[in-house]
Amino acid sequence: MRGKDKSIFPATCLQAGRNTYLCSSDVAIYGASVAQIPCGMYCRSIQVNDFKNYPSFRVEFIPGFNCLTGKNGSGKTNLLDAVHYLSFCKSFINPIDQQNIRHTCDTAILQGEFMSDSSSENIFCSFRKGTRKIFKRNGREYDRLADHIGLIPLVTISPEDAVIITGGSEERRRFMDTVISQFDKIYLDNLLRYNKALEHRNRVLKEYHSREKPDELSLEIWNEKMIPLAEYVFAKRKKFIEDLVHPLQTFYSLLCNTEEISVQYVSQLEKSPLAELFARSLQRDLALEFTSSGTHKDDLLFHLDEYPLKKFGSQGQQKTFVIALKLAVLLYLHRQTGRQPILLLDDIFAQLDAARVTRLMQILAGDNKQDFPVELSSIPQGFADQAGNNPFGQIVITDTSNEVITDIVSEVTVPIRIIEIENNNIIRIADFPVVEKKMVEINN
Ligand SMILES: Nc1ncnc2c1ncn2[C@@H]1O[C@H](COP(=O)(O)OP(=O)(O)OP(=O)(O)O)[C@@H](O)[C@H]1O
Ligand SMILES: [Mg+2]
Repeated sequence: MRGKDKSIFPATCLQAGRNTYLCSSDVAIYGASVAQIPCGMYCRSIQVNDFKNYPSFRVEFIPGFNCLTGKNGSGKTNLLDAVHYLSFCKSFINPIDQQNIRHTCDTAILQGEFMSDSSSENIFCSFRKGTRKIFKRNGREYDRLADHIGLIPLVTISPEDAVIITGGSEERRRFMDTVISQFDKIYLDNLLRYNKALEHRNRVLKEYHSREKPDELSLEIWNEKMIPLAEYVFAKRKKFIEDLVHPLQTFYSLLCNTEEISVQYVSQLEKSPLAELFARSLQRDLALEFTSSGTHKDDLLFHLDEYPLKKFGSQGQQKTFVIALKLAVLLYLHRQTGRQPILLLDDIFAQLDAARVTRLMQILAGDNKQDFPVELSSIPQGFADQAGNNPFGQIVITDTSNEVITDIVSEVTVPIRIIEIENNNIIRIADFPVVEKKMVEINN
């Protein structure tokens, strides 16, 4: 164990002694114990063809804790990415679809079976070189990809998230937009319309140089389109961040009881209505040839003990912040949608010290639920351990180290499946249905 105080773990967890296990590819035998666990939305299986490193690959997950292990480059992150594709219609690694088709192949196909208490959803996605992406829900093609967003609530925590802190303001706007769009369809719609109108307005500003005077009528048309859309986006982002601060601070202090953190939403619309900002910045916009006022300039300021996290936070502190932020988002989405989001954890342990890893595992196991923000601790249960105290839904985690995975197995009091990958194949599956309170051995 990585330097942890065992006394803080529930007795049942220690008794379970799940440090050794046998392997099985026949997982059906676990069906009964796993299926009885009430659950929010979870991914039951995915099948990918010619997606990144996989020619053809199928994997089945359980509603609880799934650990993907394997050496560097074995394809662990790519499987998380496949689940992400099926939720968000895009990769969280590489936004260019074409580059996610297996080298030398034409078409990538991803299929996923997602289950909730009341329904099952079959999601299909394919993309090929030179044509548009096709997305289907239960055999029916979507008219717009945006219509799919929110059906499968999902939160990813990965090394890529570092850009939320270290990247430009567009990364923090993307963060807010990704979350809000999952529970507010009007937001996504308004955001897309705002961005379109902004493109048009910028084009009018660019064209000014070839004219004697600005095309004021066109500018006015786009201003009028943008103003109500920006007001909506502004109000939603403001409310979202207001609601998120308390859970974020709570999770941060659960992970490491050291520094104070804060988040501030910064928007020009805080000071003046957009109509006024447009009027004031007209000359500047004409000179710059783009729109310098609006919600596309919003940002978030993150502070650690009153110092900017981006400049003064260590890598571990920044990572801890991102984890706390995403956990807060997960519970927030749960409250907004009434469904537990799937949680994807990619390479989460790098840069965290042993104490933080232990506390993270305790949080995911629901051990600190009594400390969760009041408004979030009362959310309905999804899958739960026998004490019924886990507020998290399905979790899929990757790690190269079997040692880390063994630690998780012994610490988490929810059902666990370990899936080991090598050469584009599953070489081992081991299940730990916690309802048995001890390891169940299955022989092929
Ligand atoms: N379009 C593609 N075609 C073929 N192979 C690809 C494509 N895109 C990525 N790959 C390969 O997929 C492999 C697996 O990548 P992945 O990031 O999933 O590995 P990983 O198991 O997460 O590794 P690590 O432990 O280093 O994070 C890599 O070897 C990568 O080169
Ligand atoms: Mg990886």
